[in-house]
Amino acid sequence: MVKVSLAEGISWVGVVDWNIRDFHGYITRRGTTYNAYLIQDEKTALVDTVKHAFSNELLQNICEIIDPEKIDYIIVNHVEMDHSSSLPQVAKLAKNATIIASERGKDAIIEHYGADFNIQTVKTGDELKLGKRTLRFVEAPMLHWPDSMFTYVVEDKILMPNDAFGQHLAASERFDDEVDEHVLMEEAKTYYANILMLLGGLISRKVQEVVRMGIPIEMIAPSHGVIWRSNPSKIIQAYLDWSAGKSLNKVVIVYDTMWGSTDKMARAIAEGAASQGVDVKLLKLRAADLTEAMTEILDAKAVVVGSPTLNSGMFPTLGQFLTYATGLRPKDKLWSFFGSYGWGGGAVRGMTEMARKAGFEVHEPGVEVKYIPEQEDLKKCFEFGQQIAAKIKA
Ligand code: FEO
Repeated sequence: MVKVSLAEGISWVGVVDWNIRDFHGYITRRGTTYNAYLIQDEKTALVDTVKHAFSNELLQNICEIIDPEKIDYIIVNHVEMDHSSSLPQVAKLAKNATIIASERGKDAIIEHYGADFNIQTVKTGDELKLGKRTLRFVEAPMLHWPDSMFTYVVEDKILMPNDAFGQHLAASERFDDEVDEHVLMEEAKTYYANILMLLGGLISRKVQEVVRMGIPIEMIAPSHGVIWRSNPSKIIQAYLDWSAGKSLNKVVIVYDTMWGSTDKMARAIAEGAASQGVDVKLLKLRAADLTEAMTEILDAKAVVVGSPTLNSGMFPTLGQFLTYATGLRPKDKLWSFFGSYGWGGGAVRGMTEMARKAGFEVHEPGVEVKYIPEQEDLKKCFEFGQQIAAKIKA
């Protein structure tokens, strides 16, 4: 392992998962990392572990620095298995270590791996002295699991918030100033949109709570991707903007098509919206994935969804998209629907009902076309795009 130091005595001992492309449905086109940090003082603490498949690599990284038997504490900030499934293997070698977790973290560890661990629970404000260094804990329930917590290294002003501020980005570099800034922010945005979007209210309150605590943050070391050291306030501000639902004059059109009719409608709507000077993104499902769609939706003001009617309902890819989108609950968007049909229709009605049930603001009526759109139909679609754009610009 190339030695990576965050500060004197604080080392990155995580692993890079270059080849993962599907993280429980999230398309990780640039892979990911599972970060773990070793803090050496009079006592030694390991902050988080890694996904089980990489246990040996983690242990090898630790062994290059210290005998695992000398680890005094294993901090479990979050029990989701990408961070905790090496815990049993690490704890077997670090046999003198006390595991530190939140109260709900302790329950989750036992429920995942059994009760054969020495676990000490902590709550917000509790501190652990390692020697010259102090670890302070901040519970972060539902960010994004009930057990989640942040660890703050007081003297070095380093926040280790686990999933928060992470990115699914595999890289040989470990710090934000060493990678392409555009790629980094794109992956941070994708991560927020697909993992954290539904928790916007909680995120906003937690970030403000941390700001109110007045703890200086010089570095944010998340559990995925690179470490924010050059300007951590940039990602904090991005989280505040995303969680507040800050959006652009942008229309995202998500659709699928069987014989090209809904595709023609989608293009006409896109032209109509673009003619009003708003940014337009057109995503055909099966060409674009759900991860990309939600990332585009995060900062859009309007989402226009199109489906042909199949078996009296929406096309299956749209069912999948709307299930995912309603679960992530994008904030303050205007939704509208369109589609083609052969005889009875049903897709537009079904999609509208699903959006209404989720509490989304829906622009009605949508647009429907029988069989193949003619010039008059495409004109209607163009005007529909214009109306949506005008509405979000108002
Ligand atoms: Fe990276 Fe919630 O696990």
